Amino acid sequence: MVGVSFSLPELPDSPAERYAELADYARALVAGEPDRIANAANLSALVKATVPDLNWVGFYFYDGTELVVGPFQGLPACIRIPLDRGVCGAAARTRETQRVDDVHAVADHIACDGATNSELVVPLIGRSGELIGVFDLDSESTGRFSDEDRRGLEAVAAVFVDSLG
Ligand code: SME
Repeated sequence: MVGVSFSLPELPDSPAERYAELADYARALVAGEPDRIANAANLSALVKATVPDLNWVGFYFYDGTELVVGPFQGLPACIRIPLDRGVCGAAARTRETQRVDDVHAVADHIACDGATNSELVVPLIGRSGELIGVFDLDSESTGRFSDEDRRGLEAVAAVFVDSLG
């Protein structure tokens, strides 16, 4: 995409339709571009600008040993997270999305932004089953992420993984 301005989508009110359209926009945003930094940066910006009530949206990439922060929108964050630590580590280790309604109830939660109260972390698994990293979303609202949010944001994560080819 060169010299094409990308206006923010006006999304429908119904959550299911909102996330379906968001996934379409996400696909358009990464179309033809395999660079993971570029796509993680643009997808973080898209989600932060269109999904309400988020204070941090971004990517951690697995470097073969631990998770290292990648492109994100929000306050500066923890740089490296071992796989045996935090909600991000749990998502990477178990390869299952972690949905935490109240991060203060999770002893192992790593507080990057003290204002965060709930969190959703989607593991990013490549075509060959390799761990790419995680897609992490934080909110200041307790219980911000419904099952519908989980499905919708897993779809955005899938767009990212597919874009890598
Ligand atoms: N809270 C995460 C750490 C990353 S920040 O939220 C950006 C965790 O417990 O793994």
